[in-house]
Formats: sequence, C-alpha cells, structure tokens
Amino acid sequence: MAHIIDGNAIAAEIRTEVAAAVQHRLERGLPAPGLNLLLVGEDPASEVYVRFKSKDCEKVGIRSTIVRLPADATQQQVIDQVQEWNADSSVDGILVQLPLPKHINEHDVINTIDPEKDVDGFHPVNAGKLLIGLDGFIPCTPLGVLEMLKRSNIETSGKHAVVVGRSNIVGKPLAMLLAQKRPQGNATVTICHTGTRNMTEFTRSADIVIAAVGRAQMITAEHVKPGAVVIDVGINRITKADGTNGLVGDVDFASVEPIAQAITPVPGGVGPMTRAMLLSNTMVAAERRSR
Ligand SMILES: NC(=O)c1ccc[n+]([C@@H]2O[C@H](COP(=O)([O-])OP(=O)(O)OC[C@H]3O[C@@H](n4cnc5c(N)ncnc54)[C@H](OP(=O)(O)O)[C@@H]3O)[C@@H](O)[C@H]2O)c1
Repeated sequence: MAHIIDGNAIAAEIRTEVAAAVQHRLERGLPAPGLNLLLVGEDPASEVYVRFKSKDCEKVGIRSTIVRLPADATQQQVIDQVQEWNADSSVDGILVQLPLPKHINEHDVINTIDPEKDVDGFHPVNAGKLLIGLDGFIPCTPLGVLEMLKRSNIETSGKHAVVVGRSNIVGKPLAMLLAQKRPQGNATVTICHTGTRNMTEFTRSADIVIAAVGRAQMITAEHVKPGAVVIDVGINRITKADGTNGLVGDVDFASVEPIAQAITPVPGGVGPMTRAMLLSNTMVAAERRSR
C-alpha cells in the first residue's frame, strides 16, 4: 500500500504560510499583494478557474481583480489591458487565463506581460531563467510538484525520474527542474512523449514517475516499478460506468497504488498544489517589487 500524498493538506499548509507572509507585509506598512486576472470570452471552465483563483486570494489576504473581455475582443484590446497592468504599481501579479479565443495569439499576449509580474511563469524570460537556474517565476504546476516532493521528504538526488509529457507548462519545465543541481533536483531525467518507443521500458526503470499526459488512466501497474513514487498531474473528465461524471488522472490509481511507494490522488493531489503555488508566486512578486 502506497503512502497517499495529500495535496489538499500540503496546499493548506502553503496557504497558511502565505497568509502569515501577507500579514507580515501589512505589519511592515506594505500593501497586500495584488493579483489581476484577465478572462477573455465565456469559456465555462475558464470562468470557474478564474473564480477559484480569486477566492483563493481572498482566503490569504491577497487583493485580486478580475477583468472580463468579450470573446470578440481584439488582440490589441487584450494587449492594452496587460500593458495597463504592467504600468500599474499596485499590480504585483498578472494572470491571463488560457486558452484565449483562437483569433488571439497567446504567445504575443504572454510576451507582453512584464516578466516581474508573470506569476504563471510562462513568459520566455522566465522560461529561460528556469532553464539556466536563475530566480524567475516557475510555472505553478511544476513548482507545486517540487514542493510536494520536498514536503513529503521524497529524495530526488541520484534517482531516475521519468516525466511523461513535454508541454511547455508542465512536462518540459518539470524535467528541467528535476535535472538541475539543486534541492528537489539532481535526478537523472528521461522525458517520454508520443515519439517514444517502448515507453514501458523507461517508466519501469524509474524511481519517480511523473505523468503529465492528458490521457485518462494511461499509466498502469505494468508501467511502474514496485516501490516507485508516482506523481499524477493529469486531470481528465470521464463518464463513469454508472453514467455519472468524474475526474481521473493520467494514472490508473487502482492498479498502481498497491505497488507504489507513494502516489498522488486525483482529485486532491497536484491540482490544489497548482492553486497554492499561484498564491506563493504572487507573494514572491510583491516582495521582490517592494525591495
Ligand atoms: N493538476 C494541475 O494543476 C494541472 C495543470 C496543468 C495541466 N494538468 C493536466 O495535466 C495533463 C497534461 O497537461 P499538459 O498541459 O501538459 O498537456 P498537453 O499540452 O496536451 O501535453 C501532453 C503531453 O503528453 C504527451 N502525450 C500525449 N499522449 C501520449 C502518449 N500516448 N504517450 C506518450 N506521451 C503522450 C504529448 O506528447 P507530444 O508532445 O508528442 O504531443 C505531450 O507532450 C492534462 O491532463 C491536464 O489537464 C493539470
């Protein structure tokens, strides 16, 4: 039986720490950190995510403002909004909720965000800093995974970590971080993707398997070495046998949990960590900007 890594509990710990740090700022006469969120269009999932993020801010004393633009907003309108926030000293963090409507170029919008306010860590300057090991902003999901490993006392140094998935927001940054000579790093890292042949050979030799694939329950017991640590980043909506909808990860929890040393559940694993790390990144942005 695996140790179940409780993302909800670790995220609650982080929120408590951020709330204390916000309080400490106020005691020093500094304003509460401010996060501005931009939502373009009416995508229902994005609407929910943005509201959750704003509520999370409220819980820890971070000021948050949501601005909504219509689905037919022009790219220039979106860029103008970001630039207004870049110039506004009361805004510490800027988050543009993705995906943007198809007629808007996401890269151009992300490139407009001041890297010092890019709390999602998607700006190329922050991606570059991550690659060469400088302090920038690390995207919230990879950062959340590292924080989970740290707080669960899972050693990564000298271990073989296999990351399945190479997206710019999860797989790639996570693989780079795990390979770096730093705490929660120093691992030997393999990245698997759709071009990988015989993926099981790689995953079965892993001490740590990280699934960021977007394929429901794809990683089964046959992919995992007994005693491995398994981190499931996936969030997939499925219709269960009884007709109800549910959330599952990229890992087949039922078959993997009995053989793993430790495993994250879905829901309640990496998801809450991602949300908590946004608060932490916003706090860091505010502190850096107050120096
Ligand atoms: N927990 C959270 O907070 C959080 C945050 C972000 C994302 N997610 C979830 O994490 C998952 C991954 O997200 P993402 O944004 O990284 O997804 P993505 O951009 O779709 O990337 C998926 C990656 O998995 C690879 N892949 C797909 N099918 C594969 C297969 N059969 N075998 C091997 N590799 C395969 C793809 O390879 P190619 O590059 O070759 O196409 C790609 O690199 C999704 O379920 C998403 O909902 C969760």
